[in-house]
Amino acid sequence: MSDQIGTLTVYSTRGGNGKTITSVMLATAAAKRNLKTVIIDADLEAPSLMHLLKPVRDGPTWVDFLEENVSDIRELPRECNIPNLDIIYSPLPKVGKNFLGWKTKDWWQQSLKRSMIAEEELHDIGYDLVVIDNQSGTSLNSVNNMVLADTSVMVIRPATYGVGAAENFIGEMYRVLRDLKPRQDYYMWNQVHVPTDDHESLILENFLNRWDESMKLHGLLYGGKINFSTKLNLGLLGETPNMMDFFEETRKPIDSLLDKLLQAKGIETS
Ligand SMILES: Nc1ncnc2c1ncn2[C@@H]1O[C@H](COP(=O)(O)OP(=O)(O)O)[C@@H](O)[C@H]1O
Ligand SMILES: [Mg+2]
Repeated sequence: MSDQIGTLTVYSTRGGNGKTITSVMLATAAAKRNLKTVIIDADLEAPSLMHLLKPVRDGPTWVDFLEENVSDIRELPRECNIPNLDIIYSPLPKVGKNFLGWKTKDWWQQSLKRSMIAEEELHDIGYDLVVIDNQSGTSLNSVNNMVLADTSVMVIRPATYGVGAAENFIGEMYRVLRDLKPRQDYYMWNQVHVPTDDHESLILENFLNRWDESMKLHGLLYGGKINFSTKLNLGLLGETPNMMDFFEETRKPIDSLLDKLLQAKGIETS
């Protein structure tokens, strides 16, 4: 199959909301539908994929491509234990004299150009879907990746101060982004408490309804709701967790998000 879904970035205003989990589960769901998928670990401050989906071989990283140490895009994607899914890894950030200092504005400008080349070439060599696991916040890196992608999924945890920050940001950045090119921006609730009685249901419902309304006003599309999964949370405390053991925990909302993405692109899969 060669149905191009395009390039999607999973974003959040703060760390720990679930960008990486969402990226991996969404990419896996796509791979399971026979869509050739690659995840770029583009969170240079907190790269995670090296730990979560262990590479089966050594190879160059995303930063090697951005810095032009590698020119052939085909050297980057590495297989993991999931069929149809490859990963472009990022190196662990170095703590030393260059710590946080190497990311000059020029570096990021160059990096956006290189990312655009990579994005086009990854589709050219046959990837139907490129998922960019983004960095949090308003760094040049995260904004570059938002510009690069034609679809974004903002992952939000339900807490007023968290969504408040996201809302503030949405007002600014998404408006600018949408002026650049046609795009679709979704938001996805994650780590949502599963209510145990009517009282809890009411609190949660009130909260979600209020913010769903607000997100809609900002032009964001509803991506869905992933519940807090104790199995996933505790599973990640293990020495060598296998992400596929938790696929079922997020499958329903992730599959339904994928359906929305495919529908928006006019692609049918089973
Ligand atoms: N749906 C979920 N249920 C339970 N725990 C979750 C869920 N999503 C994320 N987590 C927990 O939150 C942590 C941070 O998630 P992660 O995807 O790494 O966030 P980010 O990439 O945005 O920093 C995970 O290590 C996991 O412990
Ligand atoms: Mg992450």
